[in-house]
Parts: sequence; structure tokens; C-alpha cells
Amino acid sequence: MCGIVGVIGQRDAAPLLLDALKRLEYRGYDSAGIATVNGEGAMARLRSPGKLRNLEKRLDVVPLPGGTGIGHTRWATHGAPTEANAHPHLAAPVAVVHNGIIENFRELRAKLKAAGATLTSDTDTETIAHLMAHRLASGEEMKAALLGTLGELEGAYALAFAFEGQPQLLAAARSGSPLAIGLADDSVMIGSDAIALAPFCDRIIYLDDGDIALLTPSKVEIFDKTGAPVDRPAVAVPVQISLAEKGNYRHFMAKEIHEQPEVIARTIGHYLDIGEGTIRDSAVGLDFADYRRVSITACGTAFYAGLVARHWFEQIARLPVDLDVASEFRYRAQNFPRDELALFVSQSGETADTLASLRVCRAAGQTIATVVNVPTSTMARETDVALPTLAGPEIGVASTKAFTCQLATLAALAVKAGIDRGTVSAEEARAYVDALVEAPRLVADTLHVEPQLERIARIVAPATTALFMGRGASYPVALEGALKLKELSYIHAEGYAAGELKHGPIALVDDSVPVVVVAPFDDLFAKTVSNMQEVAARGGRIIGVTDARGAEAMAGTAEEIIVVPDAPAFIHPLVMTIPLQLLAYHAAITNGTDVDQPRNLAKSVTVE
Ligand code: F6R
Repeated sequence: MCGIVGVIGQRDAAPLLLDALKRLEYRGYDSAGIATVNGEGAMARLRSPGKLRNLEKRLDVVPLPGGTGIGHTRWATHGAPTEANAHPHLAAPVAVVHNGIIENFRELRAKLKAAGATLTSDTDTETIAHLMAHRLASGEEMKAALLGTLGELEGAYALAFAFEGQPQLLAAARSGSPLAIGLADDSVMIGSDAIALAPFCDRIIYLDDGDIALLTPSKVEIFDKTGAPVDRPAVAVPVQISLAEKGNYRHFMAKEIHEQPEVIARTIGHYLDIGEGTIRDSAVGLDFADYRRVSITACGTAFYAGLVARHWFEQIARLPVDLDVASEFRYRAQNFPRDELALFVSQSGETADTLASLRVCRAAGQTIATVVNVPTSTMARETDVALPTLAGPEIGVASTKAFTCQLATLAALAVKAGIDRGTVSAEEARAYVDALVEAPRLVADTLHVEPQLERIARIVAPATTALFMGRGASYPVALEGALKLKELSYIHAEGYAAGELKHGPIALVDDSVPVVVVAPFDDLFAKTVSNMQEVAARGGRIIGVTDARGAEAMAGTAEEIIVVPDAPAFIHPLVMTIPLQLLAYHAAITNGTDVDQPRNLAKSVTVE
């Protein structure tokens, strides 16, 4: 999603803004721009479609002077990714950058046009610049003009403003989209997240929803939506964030795939009491005996983690689970019983649909628990119980380590639910805990299949369609494998419950279609193998992902067999995911796509 930066202080703004924007590239974007104000108050702006290097080239030719400025990477919503639609948008003396969507922008545009304004873009954002400029022109004070402008907006926004004629002032506001202020000795900054600010600042202030901020080089004033001054704490830049670098890896995604043993270990270490063979009550902070059912709501990869969790909760704790993608959740007729736990799963903690669903459940009085990776995110702050995944910053747009850490967390929760509800004996709990303790080692061992996946990826890369199938907890793993392949390599890929293939999708199968069969040797293995035979009989090129025992049964039918280490059935989803991530990664490299920032995608989807 769009990235926002701003700076005011002693340093040359444009190179700093560019550098900070580069750190937001991971969020996904398709155009970029910067506006600066020099010491005399003159404003200058440069914008460019495409990647930041295009903007950088222009800046080399036409440097933007001044120590004050705002910058933006835009992920197009209203209007194509052209220069005219790129931010900052201007209506003298105002320049504005925006993340989010202004839902009443049509009415606002019509009103502004009727009042004689000339709009030069298709965006919703440009209306904000005009509304603000109009209020300032009619003599309103800065704070009043800001509050008045925001009062006219419906929708979600994080905003940063610069002003021609005012080199000592920036303004910021947030409602529904995250925004932070960074503090350094010689400057004050604005950023969409701490990752943009970390290298330049030592402390960070996270704005609350509804806050506005006025920034000078030496002062930050924050007000709530009524205009009353508020104090928001400044916290030290998290060390982990300042470490968000690629290291020796070619891509963040490669680094994040290989970090999984370590981060899964960190996550389970948080939840498990290994000595006692149980789950730490203090880490979970929930008693599942209080709930009759659980509703799990999430998007994309996080939703697939929820789908795996449904198996675990139902099998281990006999706890019924309702599962929804967040973009649909709010539109179902529901009665939100108080004895249902509303559980959300989100890496970023900012996904608009998941956040909106969380708020609906909160308003209905349910207990809210959130499995979340970014501890400072809006969801982490608005939930009753935050259940951290300790994956560290995930920069690659395609989720990898956050997914397996979500699985590790949800697995621990399911065991805790079993203990709380009396469906799991102390001995069984210890067996589950022991299995989870094995996960980091088994994931590390599984990473050794990478050279084989590199070769198989070259077979898969030319395909136009690929199918993934699995049963039971391997079904969501198949869905996740298909999502990874399609988003990274742009190959059309679909995941199916293995038994569903013959109800339609098998019509797609011919000898050009790779079919990835996710089948550890478990209770469902024989059934999945039958489905695999049906595909093989129609010429499908089978790539089996299984363990040593499964490999024997697949031999002769599968063209390729990826053998993962034998693992307890409980943690199969964690282990089986790894080869699928590697397949997608290497297929993307073979196809020459942008691995860390696939086209059209955004890391943190802050619009509905
Ligand atoms: C896919 C991917 C997305 C996210 C989804 C939810 O690789 O990363 O499908 O899982 O956008 O994002 P979060 O978890 O931040 O709510």
C-alpha cells in the first residue's frame, strides 16, 4: 500500500525522503513523488510513474532544494499509475500525500469543481489539498483548517502536508491508516511505519486514530480529533526493525524463508513451557473453557493459517470454528454471541478488512484475540488479547515466515484450548508440545530440499496453469502453495481439496499442467494418492510433496517427489509449507519477476 514519508530539520530533505521511501518499497507501489519547501518557502515537486529509480533519475537532473518535504509511493486505487495521479498533490499553498481511500471523493470533487477548482488528477487525494487550501485562503488557522478538512472526509487516511511559504511546518493526520512520527537530534520525520524511520530516528511516536500533528524542526504537537492536545509516548526504535536488511541473501524473501527455523523457535519459545510439557497460561491470557466456539477472520495467507487452525481447534479441543475471509465477514447476518471468541490473524495488524471486522466484533461485545506480527500495529492495540508471532519484520510482500509463525502460534492455542476444555490429557499435551519443539529442526532439515526445488521450478515456470491439492490440514497448505506461486511467478495456480478435483478442475488437466500433491503419510494419505492417480491418468505432471513413507507409494506415478523429513502429523503443515515457498521463489526467479515486490501487490492492505 501507499507509503508516506516527511521530514523537517537540518538535513537536505529530498535525498533523505528518497532513502526513506526505498525502505517502504516492500509495501508495494506503482508511482512515486516528492515535494520540498526551501528556506525561502518556495515549493518544488517531482513525480514519476513506476519504480523509485525513475524518480531518482529525475532528482539527479533536477535536485529539489530545502530541508522540509514530503514523499510518497502510491499503490493506485483511484486512477491509473500516471505522473498526474502520483502524489504529492498540490493546491497552493498545500501539498499532500495520502494513504487510504476517501469514500465521498465524488461529492467532494463535484463540490470543488462547482466552486471553481481545477482538478488535474483522477485521485481522491487531490480533493484534500483543495479543501485545505480553501480553508487556509479563507483565513482559518492551521489547526482549525486541518480539523475542518478532516471533518469533511469519509473513509480512511494517513496524511502528510507541506506548505508553500512555511518552511518550518509539516502537518500529519491519521484515521484508519497507520502513521508514525520519528524523532532525531536534527530533524523530525513522518513515516507510514517504523521501518521507514528506523535508520534516521532514535525514537518513534505512533499516532492514534483521529490524531493530527503539527511538526516544526524542534517540536511535535499532537491533538485528538476534538482538537484537544494529547500526549503520545515516544518509544525507542525497536532494534529488530533497524536490522531489517537483506544480509547476504539476494532477496528479502529468501532471507525470510531461511529465517524460519529461528523465528518459529522464538515464537514457540514464547508460548510453550517445554519443561512442564504444556502451554504457558500467561502467554495466552485466555481460558478456552469460557467459549462455545471460535470465529477466525483474516485475509489471504493469514486466512489459510486460520484454515489450518480450524483443523487443530476442532480435532484437538473439539472446539467448533467459524472461518471467514475478512472482506466477507461483515456482510454475513450474524448474532455475535458473547461466548464466542473472535480471533483475528494478521501479519501487519493493519489490513483494513480484518481491522474493520475486529471493530464490528468489539462493538458487539465479544472478546477479541489477535495473532499479530507487528506489535505496534492498530490491531495489536485494539485487541483484548494480543498473541504475538515473533517473526520479526517481514519485508518480502509475499508472506513466508509470518505464515509459519502464525501456524506455530495457532498450534499452541489449539493445544491450550484442548487443555482448558479437558479434551487433552497432560500426557497428550506433552506430546503436542514435544512435536512443536521439533518444528524448528524439521523446518531447517526441510530447507535442504532447495536445490531440488530450484530444478523443479524450471519445469514449472513455463506452465500457464498449475494445480495444488491436499486433504485435511494439507488442503490449506495446498491453497497457500498456489497463492505463493501465482503471486510471485504470475503463473495461474489454484489450490483444491484433493477430493474436489474431479468435481470440475480436473478438466484443466493435461500434460502441460503441473499438479503439486501435498500428501504426508497420514490418515488421509491413501485417499489423496487415489486422487493423484486420477490426475496422472489424465496426463497431469505430478509433483509430490511427501515424507519417506509417502514417497514409496508415490513412486512410479509422480514425475518428481520432494521428500521432507518424517514429522509428527500435528506439525505437518509447518513442514510441508517450506517446499512450496521454495518452489514459488525459484519459479519467480526463473520467470524473472520481481520477487520481493510482485506487480500489483501491497504488503499491508490498508484499503477495503
Ligand atoms: C500473501 C500475503 C497476503 C496477506 C494478506 C493479509 O503472500 O501476504 O495474502 O496474507 O494481505 O495480510 P495481513 O496478514 O497483514 O493481515
